[in-house]
Amino acid sequence: MATDRKEDQGPATSVDVTGEDIHWNQDISYGSYLQLDRLLECQNPLSTKHDEMLFVVIHQASELWMKACIHELGAAMNHLAADDLGPVQKMLSRVAKIQANLQQSWEILSTMTPADYAAFRDDLGQSSGFQSFQYREIEYRLGNKNARMAEAHKASPARYNHLQEVLDRPSFYDLCLQLLARRGFDIPADKLERKWREPYEASKGVEDAWLKIYQDTNKYWDLYELAEKLVDLEHHFHAWRFAHMKTVERIIGYKKGTGGTGGVSYLVKALDLRFFPELWTLRTSL
Ligand code: HEM
Repeated sequence: MATDRKEDQGPATSVDVTGEDIHWNQDISYGSYLQLDRLLECQNPLSTKHDEMLFVVIHQASELWMKACIHELGAAMNHLAADDLGPVQKMLSRVAKIQANLQQSWEILSTMTPADYAAFRDDLGQSSGFQSFQYREIEYRLGNKNARMAEAHKASPARYNHLQEVLDRPSFYDLCLQLLARRGFDIPADKLERKWREPYEASKGVEDAWLKIYQDTNKYWDLYELAEKLVDLEHHFHAWRFAHMKTVERIIGYKKGTGGTGGVSYLVKALDLRFFPELWTLRTSL
């Protein structure tokens, strides 16, 4: 990564490497800018078992990428509410690329055998991905408003209250339906004003609106593009869930999860969830 150097920053060391002068910036460095001292102090396995480091790093890297997704989704939602679709399309494309990247985690993690994981699993106690507050925020923002899942964060008031706020706001999909209504589509009133924390229920009226868009893509190009980006995003989300479930099956079989759920059986149920249900059903009607 390059950092800019201001000309008045005092003496810089110049080293000749392959004919180029390198100016060593004394004011700001790669390590301090990225706070690497702090970041690289955070990998502290609880056991002495070799594979636990990979387990920690994969989770932490996934959380960093989730942070980036929340950043993109938050900004995209603001643009959506302001009818500014250009940046929304770009941000959703970026989220899809991050999701594709996250998918690679499972390839790396599956180099860990059941015996490798069993060697440190008991040290994890009851901690589980189930308690990832960022994952829950992403689900809430996208529209899986299962308020019960926020209860896992009651012991941390700031996190709990933040999740409650996100639950009470319209989801990405709710904002899309409001946009469609502003564009003149006949969206049922109970989809435009409702208790946002309640789970969204699919509706024929909404499917008909999306159908119109898919039946005349030239006329509604930006809305059609938005819909396909959402389908992309949900497709990747689903692929992540599926790969997680298959990796878990491969590593712990049908044991209960450390978080106390049935394990694979819980993860299989989550495969039925849909953020944007009508975007899937309309495909059969087209
Ligand atoms: C050896 C590797 C892993 C195993 C055995 C495993 C196992 C499980 C199990 C059994 C659950 C269900 C909840 C429970 O009872 O604990 C779960 C949930 C979850 N795990 Fe993992 N997991 C692994 C790796 C990961 C990684 C790398 C991530 C990345 C962040 C992750 C994120 C999650 C999330 C977000 C949930 C909640 C899903 C939901 O509520 O729909 N897991 N995991």
